[in-house]
Amino acid sequence: MALERTFSIIKPDAVAKNLIGAIYQRFEAAGLKIVAAKMVHLSREQAEGFYAEHSERPFFKALVDFMTSGPVMVQVLEGEDAVRRNREIMGATNPADALAGTLRADYANSIDENAVHGSDAAASAAREIAYFFSDEEICPRTR
Ligand code: TYD
Ligand code: MG
Repeated sequence: MALERTFSIIKPDAVAKNLIGAIYQRFEAAGLKIVAAKMVHLSREQAEGFYAEHSERPFFKALVDFMTSGPVMVQVLEGEDAVRRNREIMGATNPADALAGTLRADYANSIDENAVHGSDAAASAAREIAYFFSDEEICPRTR
């Protein structure tokens, strides 16, 4: 399997709980390298555009309210099978369904404040990475 990239967000609930370092430790322990990262406080327009696929869902307004409620960390993770591997360490969307030892089981408050985002496929990863990062902001590892 070739190197792959995925896009990740540490959401406002987890940033507020000082969990950035703990979550980065999980990424790195799973063999995912952080190749781009920044902290941003999303505007409503940015959050709505990012989650456009959910714009007709009943939870959309609450999702945008939550995602704009405080700063987030956005990052690009690189590694073998990175999209699937990141989804695996995140756990299920609803922390009540997430396997023990996953980020959402350990850190999420609820289905709507669930600590982390991760791309669900290679195509969404490419779109989401480009939504936040230019090519120059991504630093491939040379060692
Ligand atoms: P989704 O893409 O289904 O989940 P995931 O983040 O695991 O890819 O939904 C996006 C986000 O929308 C989810 O992380 C939290 C929020 N959400 C709710 O608040 N309520 C819901 O019932 C669902 C399905 C999602
Ligand atoms: Mg999703």
